[in-house]
Amino acid sequence: MDQFIIEGGKPIKGTVKISGSKNAALPILIATLLTDEACVIENVPVLLRDIRTTFQLLESLGKGIEVRGSRVTVKPKASLKTHAPYDLVKQMRASVLVAGPLLARFGVVRVPIPGGCSIGLRPIDIHLDGFKALGARELVDQGDIILSSRELAPGRVHLKFPSVGATENLMMAAAALEGETIIENAAREPEIEDLGRFLTALGAKVKGVGRSTVYIRGKSVLHGARYSVIADRLEAGTFMIAAAATQGRVDLIGAKPEHLKDTIAKLRACGVKVKTGIREISVVSDGHTIKPVSIKTGPYPGFSTDLQALWMSLMCLADGESEIEETIFENRFLHAAELLRMGASISVHGSHARVLGVKNLIGAPIMASDIRGGAALLVAALSAQGKSVLQRVYHIDRGYEKIEDKLAGLGASIQRVNDSRKLPSNS
Ligand code: EPZ
Repeated sequence: MDQFIIEGGKPIKGTVKISGSKNAALPILIATLLTDEACVIENVPVLLRDIRTTFQLLESLGKGIEVRGSRVTVKPKASLKTHAPYDLVKQMRASVLVAGPLLARFGVVRVPIPGGCSIGLRPIDIHLDGFKALGARELVDQGDIILSSRELAPGRVHLKFPSVGATENLMMAAAALEGETIIENAAREPEIEDLGRFLTALGAKVKGVGRSTVYIRGKSVLHGARYSVIADRLEAGTFMIAAAATQGRVDLIGAKPEHLKDTIAKLRACGVKVKTGIREISVVSDGHTIKPVSIKTGPYPGFSTDLQALWMSLMCLADGESEIEETIFENRFLHAAELLRMGASISVHGSHARVLGVKNLIGAPIMASDIRGGAALLVAALSAQGKSVLQRVYHIDRGYEKIEDKLAGLGASIQRVNDSRKLPSNS
């Protein structure tokens, strides 16, 4: 199992290129199930574990995958299957997104229920309620959910919460149904907009993405398309916060400032200088005291739950006390206990955390428990005095391409080593 050895206390400085967005690429790759023609998807972060799992998932369902650099061609290889294998779904919850396209095309789909993960229970009831509103019936068998419908029909669906995955699943189903589907209280994340543009490229008509009501006029036969995925706003946010926490200065190439408005505003409120261009962001934090700034996570355009853990690492170094409220996931403070091991002062009460900044964090052996919590510990280690050993970096590898190379390019002292010793078994 790989771990990172980090010698902290050095500002990161330089230029970093932001990869394609994992959370946009996943549904877009899965949406290729909607067509029997070839699709060419550019700017895919192909080195990520979750993207590799998605390739396996598509292959297991009958697609062929060719990868050249960050360009991925998805072609038909065999007739499509309608049963997603449990081995892949348990590795990556987003596999449940195959339900929408397969149900709409074939009238039946069997998908293992993904189960919870370290950050929360993560049920799929909103996805299922949406399919039922379009005429599907559900049955649970051996841990799988079987959805079927003789005639799934376009219609009006109101989501009780703007779930990202449910919005994507329903948009994909709607794209294959002749007629108009309206999704109310839809999620508004930039990744949803990207999926909407891809579905349009396949031949569906999609309006309203980025707003709460999305209109999809689908077609029973969709064609192939060539498409380029947006830059990863969460990777960009991670490097921005890392620059602030290490008192560094970093130029991010490819990042779209309009996708990070709230993070940029909060960093500025901390006293960090942030300059924006059309496709770049510069963060300068050298020598500044970080002012404490409280945050409350929320569905986009609110403060991203995915950057909450990173914000906590930054607030550990602020000149005073801040509060963090997590409203999206019920268990997304696992990183707090590890930050305490580095000398942080944090108290957690339910969905609220109170962080009192300290002068320095101190290097320690620490352990990642999810993608963003892992990245937050990495940022804390980069800013800390002395050496940290960060275990279970496989969590970070799910969401960040070669992060150690990108950080080393910015002057950080970070090394990946393989530790073959057995780790505690509570993963
Ligand atoms: C997406 O997950 C992202 N994953 C997550 O990023 C991100 O944290 C999350 O959206 C919120 O922004 C991908 O895009 C692959 P949700 P998703 O459905 O779609 C509850 C990362 O680090 N809920 O909006 O699963 C759910 O339990 C990952 O890159 C239901 O109750 O998020 C959660 O509390 C982690 N019933 C909340 O809604 C449902 O049917 C938000 O979930 C669906 C969701």
